[in-house]
Amino acid sequence: MSKILITSALPYVNGVPHLGHMVGCLLPSDVYARFNRMLGNEVLYICGTDEHGTPSEVGAAKEGMDIGEYCTKYHNRHKEAYDAFNLSFDYFGRTSSLQNEEITYHIFEQLDKNGYIEEKSIKQIFSVDDNRFLPDRYVTGTCPHCGYDKARGDQCENCTKVLEPTELINPRSTISGSTNLEVRETKHLFLKLPLLEKRLAEWVKTKEPFWPDVAYSIAQKWLKEGLQERCITRDLKWGFSVPKPGFEGKVFYVWFDAPIGYIGITKQWADEKPAERDWKSWWLGAKDVRYIEFMGKDNVPFHSISFPATLLGTGEDWTFV
Ligand code: MF3
Ligand code: ZN
Repeated sequence: MSKILITSALPYVNGVPHLGHMVGCLLPSDVYARFNRMLGNEVLYICGTDEHGTPSEVGAAKEGMDIGEYCTKYHNRHKEAYDAFNLSFDYFGRTSSLQNEEITYHIFEQLDKNGYIEEKSIKQIFSVDDNRFLPDRYVTGTCPHCGYDKARGDQCENCTKVLEPTELINPRSTISGSTNLEVRETKHLFLKLPLLEKRLAEWVKTKEPFWPDVAYSIAQKWLKEGLQERCITRDLKWGFSVPKPGFEGKVFYVWFDAPIGYIGITKQWADEKPAERDWKSWWLGAKDVRYIEFMGKDNVPFHSISFPATLLGTGEDWTFV
């Protein structure tokens, strides 16, 4: 009997469950979990809702709800829908759980201690009327390349060029339409991916026989282009507060704590029956565990580059895919 850990990409909590995600990711992982149980393997099949980030804040504001309550409402919707389809998760948890906060903090502190975190100032657009910073697609304006007047701060949908929000001409807030915007400089934390690049590349190489071709080539493409330092904090209210002096009022970026959520959700599962369940036997020093991840194509860079780099940088013996 082998121990098989299976995770299915965590759906964003905002909005109702999506049939495409169900067919593309949840269903295949469910079939794989059932198949392994039939073989007599010990399976732990984990999923849950991905709850942090601007979309949850904006969704809650639209419905006039408190963000925590909004997430609970939609978490329950997701759970009910997946139960109705009889998906066989061992646990369907939440990235906003206390357990995930605890593990996210632990991983961050290890990375910081090992020198993989750097402080830098960046320029961001602040909306005076919305009283908040506007990341990525929360700024709309005219594309400096093609003149399209509804380009988003991260990309122009007309000419597909990748943009910085500060490059847009006549920028306005996507949330309120306000043009009362200022560029402000704030401090953020970055994960020093270039320092981990060599070890990461060696590890990815060993995966060629195992990963689907498309996943392997996406990872190789990123490595070939060279890894950049990645900003892991945001000026938002909703999320895990950054536990470092000077960073009060900032939270971790949703893509920092979402994949760590696989571990946090396993701890949620274990905490329900502490006498018989042990999350570490699946994630830390777990030599007998085989780990398989299911996800859509868009998620590959996060699962093949940033999440493994995050775990590598801790210097601890985490389970890798
Ligand atoms: N919420 C993301 C999406 O739907 C997937 C997150 S997967 C995780 O694209 F690993 F980060 F949790
Ligand atoms: Zn354009």
